[in-house]
Amino acid sequence: MGKKIETIGVLTSGGDAPGMNAAIRAVVRKALSQGLKVKGIYQGYKGLLNEEIVDLDARAVSDTISKGGTILYTARCSEFRTAEGQDRGAEVCRKHGIDGLVVIGGDGSFAGAQQLAARGINTIGVPGTIDLDISCTDYTIGFDTAVNTAMEAIDKVRDTSTSHERCSIIEVMGRNAGYIALWCGIANGAEDILLPERYDYDEQVLINNIIHNRKRGKKHHIIINAEGIGHSTSMARRIEAATGVETRATILGHLQRGGSPTCRDRVYASVMGAYAADLLVEGKSNRVVAYRDGQYTDLDIDQALSMQKDLPDYVVRVAKAMTI
Ligand code: ADP
Ligand code: F6P
Repeated sequence: MGKKIETIGVLTSGGDAPGMNAAIRAVVRKALSQGLKVKGIYQGYKGLLNEEIVDLDARAVSDTISKGGTILYTARCSEFRTAEGQDRGAEVCRKHGIDGLVVIGGDGSFAGAQQLAARGINTIGVPGTIDLDISCTDYTIGFDTAVNTAMEAIDKVRDTSTSHERCSIIEVMGRNAGYIALWCGIANGAEDILLPERYDYDEQVLINNIIHNRKRGKKHHIIINAEGIGHSTSMARRIEAATGVETRATILGHLQRGGSPTCRDRVYASVMGAYAADLLVEGKSNRVVAYRDGQYTDLDIDQALSMQKDLPDYVVRVAKAMTI
């Protein structure tokens, strides 16, 4: 149990994710309702070092729950990876009276929060990333919106792919993780799904599948490729040359990070943001809010960052079974 908190800060860091605004709103309103003052820090750790800090009242977060992106903006900040940057970050917090900080982002952002906690600023991490690649939690804010956005986009590519009787390789985000690819692979009924965690694909097998499906009269062939595998454009060229089937690559890119958050993202983000404010009120520090086994919970950041997770094996096997 740590010291009593009077003023908290909130920032978003790393890649933005739909639902971050719902989380900010919940932090602000839950903290205000418990008598705390709240400050918003623009552009993640970069804005902290530049002292881009504003007071937030309940109205400052009005009309934000349905908005994509983050009203606090976000950034990546290499200076904050250094001990000097972290010392200065803690100093800036003290100068502005910020004794507790909610950091909404991914593992990298939590590593920064851990450093601030070690320097006496009570910090709580909230998992915000479309990639779902935070090991300590089954849910990350933004994933649900991103997979729904990608799914709709892939349905559209499929229409044109069918009309032209083409093969389409569609590359989805996820950094080194294959969660978005796996979910879209199932949801879009892809013929092949390439996952970085199961880097066992053989281009000849893909080629054979395409030729086989063509002989069976299939009008399209959708391959979902994860960003962690990449090289979709060169893969398309090789596949077209080997199969004689016109093949196009579509890299969905940043459209997957934008848009109004789904109901699920708004609700989970609201609960997680409020939970983070409560942890600060209780004097907790160096914790990450998580959703595990159907429950909201919190873990020590050190433990959270040492954890590993993998794609659910049964789901991967189901996905493969669906592609025959
Ligand atoms: P994410 O939070 O989504 O994993 P990044 O890995 O880009 O995204 O991290 C976001 C920011 O967090 C970085 O730009 C940097 O400012 C900070 N950060 C990342 N790793 C560390 C670290 N090991 N120590 C301190 N700060 C870090
Ligand atoms: O972490 C979210 C994410 O969109 C990843 O899926 C992707 O690898 C990365 O961020 C892209 O980062 P940037 O916006 O800097 O291009």
